[in-house]
Amino acid sequence: MNGFLLDGTAVPFIEGDTLMDAAQRAGHSIAHLCWDAAVGQSGACRLCTVRIDGRLAAACTTPAKAGLVVENRTPELDARRLRLTQMLFVEGNHFCPGCEKSGDCLLQAAAYELGMTGMHYDMQAPVRPVDASHPDIWLDLNRCILCKLCVRASHEIDGKGVFAMGGHGIGTHLRVNAPTGLLGDSTLAADDRAASICPVGAILPKRRGFAVPIGRRRLDLPSTDARPPEPAQDPDENH
Ligand code: SF4
Ligand code: FES
Repeated sequence: MNGFLLDGTAVPFIEGDTLMDAAQRAGHSIAHLCWDAAVGQSGACRLCTVRIDGRLAAACTTPAKAGLVVENRTPELDARRLRLTQMLFVEGNHFCPGCEKSGDCLLQAAAYELGMTGMHYDMQAPVRPVDASHPDIWLDLNRCILCKLCVRASHEIDGKGVFAMGGHGIGTHLRVNAPTGLLGDSTLAADDRAASICPVGAILPKRRGFAVPIGRRRLDLPSTDARPPEPAQDPDENH
């Protein structure tokens, strides 16, 4: 079988795999926010940036090739990931202790894994709407990290197109395709993949708060796919 080297470990791949596909299947972790095995490539978050034969590239969009030498958990790459994670935290409103997604959130898990102890940047504290119009699903745009997973899942898996991206640059935001722009007037169903694929707490089911206690959730537990083994140092832990 074909293979490439990931931090010195041989990883097998099958034709059509990206580096991320092959690494995750083989049980190796590469940090990610906008990748999901069930939907197509995006390359939106750049958290998965690795060094391949000396150049930087997103692991989730780079095709696996035999003989590639891929660096993943290096101090340089983790420092980049830390800055990206801090930017995401200040760009929205992420208050983990008050969020039902705590312990199951890839952004929170990345922050822990990278040893994030402060924001580094000034908080933007934007004012964004919370849409509670749907009978079964909350949408809180304060927590949206624009990963597009819900957009792609709705198109590619649910065959609907409930979500889309709108605006440009710093004004980019998630839109709901409904005449009113409200989730309650869209075709979203509670069992749609788009309703459960959000990696953070922006799209959440109603009436299921804290069904699993904090401390016993998926990413609270050690050795999950979002948690590479060695924490990195925060270069500015006093900020
Ligand atoms: Fe991603 Fe969630 Fe925002 Fe959709 S609502 S773009 S899944 S963060
Ligand atoms: Fe690769 Fe987001 S996981 S860019």
